[in-house]
Amino acid sequence: MTTEVYLPPDTLSRPDRPAYEELSKKAEEDPIDFWAGIARELEWFQDFQAVFEGNGVTGKWFLGGKCNIVANTLDRHAKTWRKNKLAIIWEGENGETRTLSYHALNREVTRLATVLKSMGINKGDRVTIYMPRIPEQVIAMLATAKIGAVHSVVYGGFSTDALRERMMSAESRLLITADGGYMNGKVVPLKEIATEAIKRVPSLESVIVVKHIGQEVSMEPGRDYFYHDLMSLKLANLVQTEPMDAEDPLFILYTSGTTGKPKGVVHVHGGYMVGAYCSTKWVFDIRDEDRYFCTADPGWITGHTYVTYGPLINGATLLLYEGGPSTPYPDRWWHLISKYGISIFYTTPTAIRGLMRYGDAWPKRHDLKQLRLLGSVGEPINPAAWKWFHRAVGDGQCPIMDTYWQTETGMICISPLPETPLKPGSCAKPLPGMGAEILTESGEPCGPNEEGYLVLTRPFPSLARTLYKDPEEFQRIYFSKFPGKYFTGDTARLDEDGYFWVIGRSDEIIKVSGYRLGTAEVESGLVSHPAVAEAAVIGVPHDIKGNVIKAFVALKPGFSPSIALEEELKAHVGHEVGPIAKPESILFMDNLPKTRSGKILRRLLRAKELGLDTGDVSTLEE
Ligand code: WTA
Repeated sequence: MTTEVYLPPDTLSRPDRPAYEELSKKAEEDPIDFWAGIARELEWFQDFQAVFEGNGVTGKWFLGGKCNIVANTLDRHAKTWRKNKLAIIWEGENGETRTLSYHALNREVTRLATVLKSMGINKGDRVTIYMPRIPEQVIAMLATAKIGAVHSVVYGGFSTDALRERMMSAESRLLITADGGYMNGKVVPLKEIATEAIKRVPSLESVIVVKHIGQEVSMEPGRDYFYHDLMSLKLANLVQTEPMDAEDPLFILYTSGTTGKPKGVVHVHGGYMVGAYCSTKWVFDIRDEDRYFCTADPGWITGHTYVTYGPLINGATLLLYEGGPSTPYPDRWWHLISKYGISIFYTTPTAIRGLMRYGDAWPKRHDLKQLRLLGSVGEPINPAAWKWFHRAVGDGQCPIMDTYWQTETGMICISPLPETPLKPGSCAKPLPGMGAEILTESGEPCGPNEEGYLVLTRPFPSLARTLYKDPEEFQRIYFSKFPGKYFTGDTARLDEDGYFWVIGRSDEIIKVSGYRLGTAEVESGLVSHPAVAEAAVIGVPHDIKGNVIKAFVALKPGFSPSIALEEELKAHVGHEVGPIAKPESILFMDNLPKTRSGKILRRLLRAKELGLDTGDVSTLEE
């Protein structure tokens, strides 16, 4: 099979930028020196004494170093000419706009950090952030990090149960939320959802509410405070950025694991900061004259690393847009790109496929000539969508960075750089300093183009340090299948040119529209309905969303299947877990196929659904 190769335009050649080969060679020859050099491009309160101490790919980085990611995100720029540069351009779904310079962002973050401190939030305390995509979402993250507290951002598209579970697990003392947000023309009543969610979170002491949509919300005196009231208090002494140990936690981000409840992936100040910094610089080649737009929500890892920390550490101007791509029309993003002169645009294959459906006319209406680089993340991008993105949005002039990575890796692992020849659908090669392999079930390297398990083979600083309160599970999930290597859970193949082609998940994680969901989360949402005895869900391929959820449900005695009940169950999951977790379809069954030990055989349901070989069914219960 021959694949088309797209060469980068000449305009991208950068004599001042080390080439991929040069960086990779340096990393290979002396990885310790390589990572130390990158780390020392950033500011440290105290230099580190050792670069890496570990075992296989896991370990500690920059030992003895004192830093704070916020010192590099804000303080550093506020001391230079960049203080007057725009950090954030914001546009709401309804069209209102705000801008914050680095100076202004630093001022707001410092004020909020001082407020948090005065409310008794200390180093190490957990703060949950449940917000729409407004500047205060980023401000809340940075203010929390500035005082050394740990943020846990929960995506605004999650609902009561999902939010409650995440706050309980993190034992959050504070929740920062908003009265509501706008998404795809609808109001999301965040405070209302939060009020319900916190009822059973004993650790929670206070709630800060940003007024955004201006809707009346119930406030409990002594617990709930309006952000704007707190921010206008006379603050005597503004806090300084807290010097943290390089290995101190920066944030917990809950994400679906292979089993059970969402896992709290823990990232630390030092290593994460270094990874966010260099990957943004390499992959997006961010320069001072750029305007950068990543459509991700800070509630997901892409929004942590490539909306918030990576671009800001690099002193970039970023566009934060609150709403959906089709509101009011399917050219909202193209309009934003032309309106703000965006030069780097990073989004998901689902969004690209969704907008491609509306045809070339929508991007053609807008002047997209400022664009020079495009990016894709979250799921494999099919060549047809890649080519449309390249042609209709990038005018054939903008290379597409298909970036492969995960919540756990904190930074992009496999991706082209702007000068890399591209193959549509392939995420190209490991970044400098990274190593990846494809292995068979028994751990042998696969041959060219042979599908196998994707593993990471070399230590890098931004890999998660643990799962919150569950270090054993961390070891088991990621390091037990192939000892000494990091197991990604994805399958992929490697072609004869050393290009990686990610195929998809090999476990119980389903990527729906690029959102990461676990079968267990959706199933527990279903079984919490009084009619449901048992439920199993699987991912089924979908032209636009990549995958959709199909549920199999056995009802309790006294309930019978109906279209009305199917709709009720979907709405129930939407309410409990979040709209993104709603099954596309539900099949009612008398019994679900189980092993003799009582485990639901999802594999069998999936094979039947997709017309695949059902494999070994000898363990099937009679
Ligand atoms: C998938 C998102 C193919 C993959 C940053 C991974 C991708 C999971 C790509 C992590 C890509 C991410 N090509 N698949 N470029 N990027 N994935 O934690 O299955 O939300 O394991 O992080 O997304 O999802 P997560």
